[in-house]
Amino acid sequence: MAQRFRALLDLCKRRGFLYQSAEIYGGLRGAYDYGPLGVELKKNILKSWWQRHVYWRDDVVGLDTSILTPHPVLKASGHVDEFTDLLVDCMLTKERFRPDKAPALHYLSDMRQIPINAPDKATAKLWKDTIEKHVAPGIMATLKGKQILLHVKNFVQPDENGNGGRIDFDSLDQQQPISIDYHGYVEPNSNSPFLTDSRPFNLMFKTFLDPIDPIDRIIQTTTETAGSKTNVREAVDDVLRPSTVYLRPETAQGVFVNFEQVTRTMNKRPPFGIAQVGKSFRNEIRLEHGIFRTPEFEQLELEYFCPPWESSHWFKYWRELRFKWWLDHACHKEHFRQRDHTSNEMAHYATGCTDVEYLYPWGWGEIEGVANRGNYDLTQHIKNSNASFEVVQDNVEPTPGIDTDECLLPTESPARYVPHVIESSCGLNRAMLAYLCDAFHQVGEDGKPPRSVLKLHPRLAPVKCAVMPLTGKPEFMPIAESVARSLRRQGWYTMVESQKLKIGKRYYRHDEIGTPWCVTVDYQSLEDNTVTIRERDTGDQQRLHWKEVQHYISERLLEDDDS
Ligand code: GAP
Repeated sequence: MAQRFRALLDLCKRRGFLYQSAEIYGGLRGAYDYGPLGVELKKNILKSWWQRHVYWRDDVVGLDTSILTPHPVLKASGHVDEFTDLLVDCMLTKERFRPDKAPALHYLSDMRQIPINAPDKATAKLWKDTIEKHVAPGIMATLKGKQILLHVKNFVQPDENGNGGRIDFDSLDQQQPISIDYHGYVEPNSNSPFLTDSRPFNLMFKTFLDPIDPIDRIIQTTTETAGSKTNVREAVDDVLRPSTVYLRPETAQGVFVNFEQVTRTMNKRPPFGIAQVGKSFRNEIRLEHGIFRTPEFEQLELEYFCPPWESSHWFKYWRELRFKWWLDHACHKEHFRQRDHTSNEMAHYATGCTDVEYLYPWGWGEIEGVANRGNYDLTQHIKNSNASFEVVQDNVEPTPGIDTDECLLPTESPARYVPHVIESSCGLNRAMLAYLCDAFHQVGEDGKPPRSVLKLHPRLAPVKCAVMPLTGKPEFMPIAESVARSLRRQGWYTMVESQKLKIGKRYYRHDEIGTPWCVTVDYQSLEDNTVTIRERDTGDQQRLHWKEVQHYISERLLEDDDS
């Protein structure tokens, strides 16, 4: 599995899907650049999403709001106080990690030992020294190759909330054991139980919109006003607050604060939705699996506003519609699933949430959350800004098409309410990674090493068609150029491959990047204007007039696109 994933990452780098950002300067951890094919794949995912959820409906409009978000917006939304992960440091390895994702202690109960795993013998020796001198002086520890074995006298498991756990180690003087608390997790790489207490860590990137360097102002103010250490923190925050802005952690808040503007300018009333696509930023503690978890990522978000009595209907509706979209572009539908959140997983704003997950090579991972946000966000902004987000509905009836049994209608008309929001929030980078994993096939041919084929859905494929004049002779070029021009005018990325490579090799190079169709111009083309068109997944070929190529592709791109 890991080998296949490495082969896919290698393909992505070699063929221009994905590059390490600023690689010539050693790269930036967690930052990636999308190459010419990566950018097309991403755009095609976005295009299919936007097409289905905005252009094909009359109840959803688009929006593009600012990434820089002022403090009051994110204070009101709860992000300043509650958008946190817990963070723990390992006193031994200095690794910083999220305790909720960390493994439980590996305890060799029959030998009463805890193994600590170092990367090499020299580090093991160094860590043993650190444990004995600084982390747990007097502890009994033995060195065994790359492992340090800690001798345990008594081990108590914590309760389900992580409380009451304890490890008592044998001490060198055999008198008093050396005791530490155990909360149910250890540092993931080494199994070290020597950890700091957990503390909340806000995930938002903060910056300052201020022509004067705020640090200068801080130095001046804090030296004048701050007496104790707490006052320094408060004084610093006071100075910074007027110019503090955040890189948005989700695109959704930009939609909520514009709710009234959109309803007024577009003459919309619930139920209706606002779609937004763009970058979001989170100072993630643990960056993982390439583009799966990065500090900078793109979201496709849809906020659907509805009367409170219809929210259950729309929650169900959007969960189904979104899952169908994922499956419509998948090769292996069984590698996609929906999973309901348990109550302790739910974000601070949600009353219900269903994730869409993909079975990545390392296990199931979230690609989208469909959440019932209730009227939490709009109510928060009403409280904090005096915005008027209330809707007055004269005739209290269910929206046409919705069953009365599904709604708990209010008894009085007109009804006044703050709309409830059903949100679909999908990570574009994760979608790209999921579809790449899903499409990646290695096909074997007799006696030859396997070759890679990306069986991407044609709508997602970066290059729609490669046009190949047979020998690269100039007489084939006019027809090749005509075919390419007719396809390019449809907005399809089309390549002309006129290099002197065998046609089979040229096909394989395009199979590797997922090009669904290759068109070959040959000697017969010069006589009757026909060309061959080859299907990526079957290798089947058909002859047709070159002018029919565009229609042929167009028909297949529309197949099964029927939502
Ligand atoms: N507005 C709701 C919201 O932002 P979320 O579950 O925190 O909800 C939605 O994020 C989606 O954004 C996730 O399902 C995931 O696909 C993507 N996402 C979140 N954090 C990410 C990160 N650090 N890197 C890449 N994608 C991320």
